Formats: sequence, structure tokens, C-alpha cells
Amino acid sequence: MTFSFSVLMRLIVLVIVGLMTLPTVEAADRDKLLSEPGIYGTFAAFSLDADWARQDQTMRIAQLATLKGVVEQHREKLVIDTYLLRGLSDRADVLFRIHATELRETQQFLLDLQDSLFGKHLNTAGVMHGLTKKANYVPGMPDNLKAELKTPSEPGLKPYVIVIPIRKDAEWWSLSQEQRAAMMQEHTEASLPYTKTVKRKLYHSTGLDDLDFITYFETSRLEDFQSLILALEKVKEFRHNRRFGHPTLLGTVRSLEEIIEVLAQ
Ligand code: HEM
Repeated sequence: MTFSFSVLMRLIVLVIVGLMTLPTVEAADRDKLLSEPGIYGTFAAFSLDADWARQDQTMRIAQLATLKGVVEQHREKLVIDTYLLRGLSDRADVLFRIHATELRETQQFLLDLQDSLFGKHLNTAGVMHGLTKKANYVPGMPDNLKAELKTPSEPGLKPYVIVIPIRKDAEWWSLSQEQRAAMMQEHTEASLPYTKTVKRKLYHSTGLDDLDFITYFETSRLEDFQSLILALEKVKEFRHNRRFGHPTLLGTVRSLEEIIEVLAQ
């Protein structure tokens, strides 16, 4: 009985949110926005307020349809990825990673989200901005390192996401390019054993936020990720981290439909 009720509920959620799809809008070029330099990456984490759980399920489903609607409305300009933090993090329930060529488009999405019926139940847990840039140190690294860095990560699902904001100390920025390059080479050598199981992306935040970098990772092996961090803590470059984490966000990579299903329950 419980089973058939939950299957029915799932179907209802899928049908209702499915109706919100705007078929004619062409989606932003995901490959381009996720690979090119000069793209803004925003990480926006939210907690649901206490009223959310008090509402009945029909009301929650109706409000979740407005979340789907807002995401659809902005998919022409933005690439929006969703993550479930609830259960693994005490800082927030959901995380949005938004890629845009213009930060004001991201702002409009976040305004529309917070204005929606679903958004009325969101409390902002934190927003961070960064910019993708061309590699600064890799071009000067030896060819064998460059080649190894190109090894693609193992195919298959990488269900876990980790986001770690970093701020370097003043000394780091006063070092010469050569000094920093030598330390980044050490960083790279220590990290190479993990390229197969840990996918990464770097955002530069200096001037856009109270941070220097947002580091983003996906993995199916959290134990590898932990070993990677322990390996990096041993290299000199790590001593120049004035802030590492605070917060470290840990969650799972979920489609919007999965997020909606979980929050509808
Ligand atoms: C698979 C694991 C990793 C590999 C292969 C790797 C490799 C690299 C490489 C090659 C660069 C230089 C990019 C450039 O040329 O501009 C870099 C930069 C950086 N990495 Fe990693 N990394 C890994 C994991 C991590 C982790 C776990 C952290 C910290 C949580 C981290 C933090 C950073 C930061 C902050 C920079 C920017 C440094 C700067 O530009 O001053 N990396 N990484």
C-alpha cells in the first residue's frame, strides 16, 4: 500500500513538473559554458524554512513546479546544475551551480527563484562567485605532466560533489610567477594519481568575492578525495592557504527532477 502510494506520488510529481517544460526555448551551450575561459560560475546554497515541511504534499508539489518553471525560463542563457546537500551537510539543503557569460543573467535567475512560490521557502545559506580562466601554470610545465593532466577521468557516474572555497595569503601573491609555478608543479605532481577518480574545476574569485578560488570536485570515491587532500596538505603551496573550506560543501549530484522528487516527499 505504502509502495503503491509512493509510486503514484512519484508519477504525479513527474507529470506536474513535466508540464512546466517550455519546449521552444533552445538551451544554452553546456559544453561551451563548462569548458571555456571567461565564464562566471556562481554557487548558491539554500536551506528550506520550517514552513516547508509543515505544508501538505500537494502544496509542496505545486510550489516545486514553480522551481522547475524558473529553471526552464533561464535555460536559454544559463547552465544550471543542481545538488542535494540535505542529509550530508548541515549548512544547506540544495545547491545550484550556475554558469553564465554575464553575471547579471545569474542575478536575474536568483531573483526569479526567490520570487517564486518555492523560493519563498528558501533561506540563503551562501552565494559565491568565480570566473573561469586559461591555465596560468600548466603551459610552463614539463610535457610529461601536461600529457598526464590530459588523461580523462574514468567514465561512469560520479555521484558526490565537494566544493571548497580557498583564500591564499598575501605572501603567495607577492611571490614571483616562477616561484608560484614551482609550487604549483609540486601540487600537480601530488594530485596526478587522483585524476582518474576525481573530476575538478577551478574558478577564480579574487575581486568578485572574499575568496581567491572556488574549487569544485566530483567523485565516486570519497576515500580517494580524502587521500588527495592529505597529499596536497604536504606540499608547500598548501601553507599559503589562509582559508580552506569554511564552508566545505558536500552533497550529491542530482538532476532537477530528482531534487524535486526528494523535496516533494
Ligand atoms: C585531481 C586532482 C587535482 C589536480 C590534477 C590538480 C591540478 C592543478 C593544476 C594543474 C593547477 C594549475 C592550473 C593553472 O595552470 O592555472 C591547479 C591549480 C589549483 N588547484 Fe589543483 N589539482 C587537483 C586538486 C586540487 C584540490 C583538491 C585543491 C584544493 C581543494 C586544489 C586547489 C587548487 C587551486 C586553489 C589552484 C589555483 C592556484 C593558483 O592559480 O594560484 N586542487 N591544480
